[in-house]
Amino acid sequence: MTTLATVDRSDMLGAIATLPSQLRDGLVRSEDVRVDIENSWPADSHAGVARPRTLVVCGMGGSGVGADLLVAAFQLRSPVVPVKGYDLPEWVSDEDRVVCVSYSGETSETLSCMRAAMERSVVAAVITTGGKLASIATAQDIPVVTLPGGMQPRAAVGVLFGALAGVAEALNVVDHAGEVVEEAARGAESVIEQHGTTGDALAEGDDAPPALRFARELDGTVVCVYGSGPTAAVAWRWKAQINENGKLPAFANAYPELNHNELVGWERATTGGTRWSLIELVSADTSSPVRARMDITRELIASEVGATLRIEAVNTSRAGSVFELLTWGDYVSVYLALLAGIDPSPVERIRSLKDQLAGR
Ligand code: F6R
Repeated sequence: MTTLATVDRSDMLGAIATLPSQLRDGLVRSEDVRVDIENSWPADSHAGVARPRTLVVCGMGGSGVGADLLVAAFQLRSPVVPVKGYDLPEWVSDEDRVVCVSYSGETSETLSCMRAAMERSVVAAVITTGGKLASIATAQDIPVVTLPGGMQPRAAVGVLFGALAGVAEALNVVDHAGEVVEEAARGAESVIEQHGTTGDALAEGDDAPPALRFARELDGTVVCVYGSGPTAAVAWRWKAQINENGKLPAFANAYPELNHNELVGWERATTGGTRWSLIELVSADTSSPVRARMDITRELIASEVGATLRIEAVNTSRAGSVFELLTWGDYVSVYLALLAGIDPSPVERIRSLKDQLAGR
């Protein structure tokens, strides 16, 4: 008999259940180098200015999403600018600070930003398990927040986020990191507790965990995930998780902007026989004008879209709702793989692309 463990060989389902402990662990790990991070912004040498003008966070894929989630979950005291590419923006200067995040420590885009940031002497810290990023930083006495190894980067989102929250707090860019990380952990827990006993096989009917039931509704469709404000970052995480865990195309967009372009694109969405489904991510921060847009959009695209699921966060804190909705997406994406009998963990195409680039 095919059991879940023989398909989910690296236990991606189990990794989701560790999100709350990861979040707390990430914050603790940042404390090991907190004083060094604080010293990377000595206010007295910046005319008494207590914090950097902007915090630039460089990282790709699963390592980059932490920056988007930081913006979504916290009230920021300075802007946080995620950079997902090779180049550090030209405006980054001594008034700003840069954090480079790479789970493996080997990602070429992040290493390229790290070199540029070092040339400008603006690196506050790196967050990584090791690799070149850790070596370069250590050689220059730059603080390293060391992550636990052995995971897929995207499955380490909890520890990555907790660590980044701690770094941002040490730089005075956010307050109350401990409370916010705790809210995030409770948000994740509220979904995990509904998925505690998965058993050996994929349960049927009412015995199935709720995210598996959602995945069954979405199976065989191309999923579009729509959010707004803080939930827009989560929509993007859903899309990336459906890509990497489910090995499926998926799309994300945000209200109200999508009402000014993508709405029209639905008109011919079913040309060629593609079946679509829509997930809407809603939280206490979703305003009534945006909710009205969601209702009207749903009606306008009703004949093009199959399943439409609106997931409304139960947790009312910003961080709690962000991590609650994120955890739903992580489960759904893993179940989409398991329904197809596919191991969610390996990302062969990313590995192959990185290998081919290294050979050039
Ligand atoms: C794989 C994953 C990828 C990586 C990305 C960058 O699980 O999530 O999106 O995160 O290829 O690699 P790292 O995280 O090692 O810098």
